[in-house]
Amino acid sequence: MTEERKTVFSGVQPTGTMHLGGYLGAFRNWVALQDEYDTVYCIVDLHAMTNPTDPEEFTTTRLETAKVLLALGIDPQRSLLYMQSQVPQHAELAWILGTLTPTGVLNRMTQYKDKVARGIPANVGLYTYPVLMAADILLYHAQLVPVGEDQKQHLEMTRDLAERFNNRYGDVFPIPDPLIPKTTARVMSLTEPTAKMSSSDENPKSRINILDSPDEIRTKVRSAVTDSEPTVRYDLEAKPGVSNLLDIMSGCTGRSVDEIATEYESRGYGTFKDAVAEAIATELAPFRSRYRDLDNTEVARVLLKGALDARQKAELYQDQARRAVGLGKL
Ligand code: AMP
Ligand code: TRP
Repeated sequence: MTEERKTVFSGVQPTGTMHLGGYLGAFRNWVALQDEYDTVYCIVDLHAMTNPTDPEEFTTTRLETAKVLLALGIDPQRSLLYMQSQVPQHAELAWILGTLTPTGVLNRMTQYKDKVARGIPANVGLYTYPVLMAADILLYHAQLVPVGEDQKQHLEMTRDLAERFNNRYGDVFPIPDPLIPKTTARVMSLTEPTAKMSSSDENPKSRINILDSPDEIRTKVRSAVTDSEPTVRYDLEAKPGVSNLLDIMSGCTGRSVDEIATEYESRGYGTFKDAVAEAIATELAPFRSRYRDLDNTEVARVLLKGALDARQKAELYQDQARRAVGLGKL
């Protein structure tokens, strides 16, 4: 007997360059999960609209995000990969779930508060962002959701919404669990190693992009912030920059931090940084080359096919939800 595979759902916002942090912290795991689960990966472009961007640039970024995911090894034969806006059921379920969401709950969402504090306009889309995220997950009856630390509160809210729905309308949604990767890598900024590496950092030297050339990688790693004690050792408090480089090199090579620290302990920062750059470049090289081989029209076609399959899957469950709330056939 083959046990039925669990459904994993995750989403990524097409908001800009995809970097090493996203790769080591999330997408590498997405690729691995394909072996064990029914994986649904959604490029959440409706979510990305909560932070307004130029329409032309947005169109490009949406496609770019898909191309990078494909280059990283998301396999459309094994995963459902599609664009959120091409599956209208997401927005519809978000509306239904919105009617079950107390505003008091949304008022407590820390990410909303953080984003507004950073100057993103406080629009209704940004406010109800977590409701749309809950809809994404529940639409496919996903049981597992790989998320980073910053999304845990949203997932908690998703679980509450599923329970509230089930209590009011009958058992429709499974309660999804977070899936925390075994090796949770948190990659820090190269220029400010106490902050997360992020696509929104204005300084391009703060991050390694997945498509950076070996030269670009070397230049950025060489200019990474370290400290004045030229010993390579892991100490997050006293040496956050060096510790981050050790974590990155370990993430890219599979070697332990201890082993790497011992090897480079007294060989100077220059030598160590070149080795880190080399490890990153080696890890990213196949992705760059696969990316170059991808054709935009072909990728758009893959996404459309994904959306058609996703719609079909979503529609079955959606129908169930519609009937449960009294929006079924008249
Ligand atoms: P973002 O690029 O911020 O939309 O993030 C995409 C995914 O990568 C999310 O699941 C994040 O949790 C993860 N991620 C983003 N930045 C980092 C980072 N610096 N370290 C580890 N994981 C990250
Ligand atoms: N909010 C997530 C992020 O910024 C993206 C996302 C949208 C998501 N819908 C999702 C992640 C559903 C997991 C499941 O990273």
